[in-house]
Parts: sequence; structure tokens; C-alpha cells
Amino acid sequence: MKEELLAPISKRDVEKAYDLVIVGSGIAGLIAAYYAPKKSKIALFSKDALQESNTYYAQGGIAVALNPDDSPELHYKDTISVGAGFNEEKIVKIVVEEGIERVKDLIKMGIKFDKNNGLSFTREAAHSRRRIIHAHGDATGCEVATVLIEIIKQRDNIDIYENHMLLDILSNENKAYGATFLDVKTKKIKIFLSKYLILATGGAGQIYLHTTNPLTATGDGIAAAYRAGARVMDLEFYQFHPTSLDIDLTQRFLISEAVRGEGAYLLNSYGERFMLNYHPLAELAPRDIVTRAIFLEMLETQNKIYLDLRPIGERKIKERFPTIYKKCLEYGIDITRELVPVSPAAHYFMGGVETDEFGRTSLKNLYACGEVACTGLHGANRLASNSLLEGLVFGKRCIDAISNDNPSENNLNLKEFTLIKKEYPLEKIKEKMLHLKNVMWEKVGIMRDEENLNKAKDTIEKFLEEFQNIFINDKTFFEFKNMLLVSYLIVNSALLRKESRGSHFRIDYPTSKDEWKKHIIWEKEKEVIYCEINSLPSFKKNC
Ligand code: SIN
Repeated sequence: MKEELLAPISKRDVEKAYDLVIVGSGIAGLIAAYYAPKKSKIALFSKDALQESNTYYAQGGIAVALNPDDSPELHYKDTISVGAGFNEEKIVKIVVEEGIERVKDLIKMGIKFDKNNGLSFTREAAHSRRRIIHAHGDATGCEVATVLIEIIKQRDNIDIYENHMLLDILSNENKAYGATFLDVKTKKIKIFLSKYLILATGGAGQIYLHTTNPLTATGDGIAAAYRAGARVMDLEFYQFHPTSLDIDLTQRFLISEAVRGEGAYLLNSYGERFMLNYHPLAELAPRDIVTRAIFLEMLETQNKIYLDLRPIGERKIKERFPTIYKKCLEYGIDITRELVPVSPAAHYFMGGVETDEFGRTSLKNLYACGEVACTGLHGANRLASNSLLEGLVFGKRCIDAISNDNPSENNLNLKEFTLIKKEYPLEKIKEKMLHLKNVMWEKVGIMRDEENLNKAKDTIEKFLEEFQNIFINDKTFFEFKNMLLVSYLIVNSALLRKESRGSHFRIDYPTSKDEWKKHIIWEKEKEVIYCEINSLPSFKKNC
């Protein structure tokens, strides 16, 4: 599919040149900034305030095999088993082993994880051990992000640009050399040149009607990388978290899986513990299984599903889950006494920009880490709390790679690019965005089939056509275009994968098939690329 740049380019808009541009202020971007050489001139960009990332809101914690009864081998086994036989095994090994050192680094930086005679470990779904470290009970991401941001702010060699939305990655002859940003406050389009770029822009949960992700998660990084010519893969695998607070809210609030790890039950509207009918691990079955079970129970009973936290006990609830306790109380639910209505919501994108084991993408000088990247760690379904660990490991690995790679000499050829500027009511864009989110939720969500996927594809194609070659200088418009592109790639991947595996469930192809043990990879203006699992990266193999 041909996709031009999102915004026009003019030489007049060049602002500054850096050694390294990092886009994104979640754990992966912050860690990259932390390990980046202090002699390099670095720019760190975030679309909103630095805090506004999925990392900041992460409740559960970080999975790491540091408990005396645990081992990297067990962590590896659990990750592979949940990933539905689709993980890149080499990457899993790297993350579970190296993650231990990276977590120790976090502790040395001053991040305070909860303790109980040593580190306190909780359990989450499909972990065979208590393995999840956490901070302030259920505010792990907030502690990690806050400490890292404080450290980064003190670095003289790092310029921080908040409220700057990534528009495009500039590339020439398969080499990235800069990026354009929208200064959200002034609406100025700015170009920053750089020897290297690290994409750490996070996920795309906002393409779905219901999501636990913040408003910033509109798939900007994946869309920009694709437009620049980088390969993207595994886009049919989107994880839906089973338990977001199901009350009338525009933004879904997550009820951490850790509450089930500490003993909370799921009940249907008859008060029955239905998970026992779906999987021997019941509430702690892999996340995709719990999500589908809730979805089916909701359909069957035509009613709500509830979490019962009372078995945990009042004192422990308040101690371990203070954020969830307070938030629910704000909405009139006392979780120490009352049942909590929950339902699934889009939570984590397993797919993303294809990288090698050092975060290199198929474009020279462009690296990716965190949720925007697809290293193959998660396979078809992510093991809970493995994503902060991945961001930690790969944020540093990108810097290691950059220290070893020579920047490809860029034939800096900043070509002017024009687009027709249109006046278009923003309200109309917002209506279309909501339409897209509904279509993605209903037709490309937890359960999929050919007919509905094709209907979604038709809608998306119509929108893409309507807005082709048009440019409205507004963040909402740029986000909408990114959401359309990412949705288009998801739908096409989901149509191609004629099997069910992990989070991708096809009602018309309900089983997994060995012949489908291959990644679906897209590159602009090319036919689909297939690559067998455990043979990535595809771009070093001429496939
Ligand atoms: C949670 O706290 O349930 C989320 C953890 C995760 O998604 O890894």
C-alpha cells in the first residue's frame, strides 16, 4: 500500500541536528536516554507530558526471576507457553536472563520496589511462580517513570521536547536521517535531523473503542516507521486485558491481574465462578483464554461479569492495591465489600516494527524498543508483566547497538514534499475516529471472522481514500490517519492468518495450524512477506 508522508516538508522547517533522537517517554525511551553516552547530543520527545505513557499507568509490575524458588529457565518456559508456540526463542532467552541485571540497575538508580523480607513478589496469570515485583502496591509504572524522568532531566546533554507529536521519519535510500514533529501547542511542524533515531512510542490501544491505554496511544510510531519503509509484523496479535472497570467511562480503568494473583475471583451474573469451566488454572489461565471466557459468558448471560476481591481481605486490598481501591471508591464502588463490574479492553500490541536482537529495524539508523517494536518476545500472546522487562532490556540494547554501529553516511537529501491543506471540521474527524474505533472493536476485536474483517476493511479503505493526499494541521487529524493506517494493516494481517493462535481468534478457523508458524510482515509497496518463526530478522535474510 502506498502511503505518503503525513505532513509537508520544507527545508525552512529544520530546527536542529542531534546525534540521537529518542521518541517516547515510557520505560524503553527513558532507559535508552539513561544509557546513552553522556558526550552525545540527544533529544527526547514525548507527545504529551513526559509522564503520559503506558509505563506510567502500569499497575502490575515487572516480571523477573529473582525469587529464590524461581529461575530464568522457568520464566522462559512460562513465556513460551503463553505465547502459543510463536515466540522467538532467542529473544525470550535474552530478556529473561538480561532482565535480571537491568532490574538490579533500576534498584541501584533508586527505584523502590515493595519489600517483604527482601523483594515482594506477586503472581499474575500463567506465571508458575510468584515473579512480579511492584512498587507502592499497584503503582509500579509511576515509581519507575518518576525516578527515571528525574534522572534524565538532570542530564545536560539531553534536550527534552514535551508536547511534540512524531509525524514522519525521514529516510533516504533505506537510511533514516531525521523526523518531523508537530509542536502540539503552536501547531508548528519542525524537522530534527539525527545520526540515529530510537522509536519508543508505545502502543495503539486507542484504535479500539475500549482500551486501558492513555489517549496518546494512537500507533504513531508504527505508522511513521511503515511510511518510511521499515518492516512491521505480527499485527494481527492484539492483547485484550480481561478486566477493565466496566462502568460508563470514556477511558477504561485497568483492574490489575495481580488482584486475581492475590486471590480475587471472577463471577458471572448468577454469582458462579465460571473460569473453572474454561481452564484448569481458572482465573490465572493465560490472558487470552480469560478474555474470551468473559466475552462468551457476557454473551450467554446477557449480563455483566464481576471481580470479587473480598477473598483477599480488606487490610491487604488497601495495602496492595491502593490505586485501584481509591479509583473505584471515586466511582462509588468499595472493592473491599462490593463486586466490581469488569469487561475486556484492548491493552497491548504484540505486533510492531520488526527488530533484530539489538533493536535494529530494516531501515539503517532507525532502532525500535518497547511496545512499538516487535522483537518476537511475546509471540501470539504476552505473558503478564513481561513488557516493562522487555522495554528495560531493549532500551539498553538499542544504545549498545548504536555504540557499535557506524552511522550510515547519509546522502542528506531533504526533498521538499507538499500536500493539499484542507479546511475540514475537526468535529467530523472526531466522529469518523469514533466510527473507526467502533468498527475495530466490533469486527476486529476479541473474536474475528472473514465476513466481519472484510466489512471493517471496506470501511477503513473508504476513509483512507477520503483523506488521501490531504493535510489538516491538527493533532487529531494526524492521529486519525495513523490509526487508519495501523487498523488497515491489522485487518489485512487478521484476514491472512487463517487459524486461531493466542490473542488472534478466528471463529471460522478455530484451531492453530503448524503451517501458520510464520510471521506476517509488511513493507510499503511490497506484497506480504512471510518469515518462519525463529528465523528473524526477515530483513537480513532477503525475504
Ligand atoms: C496488570 O496489572 O494486569 C497488567 C500487567 C500487564 O499487562 O503486564
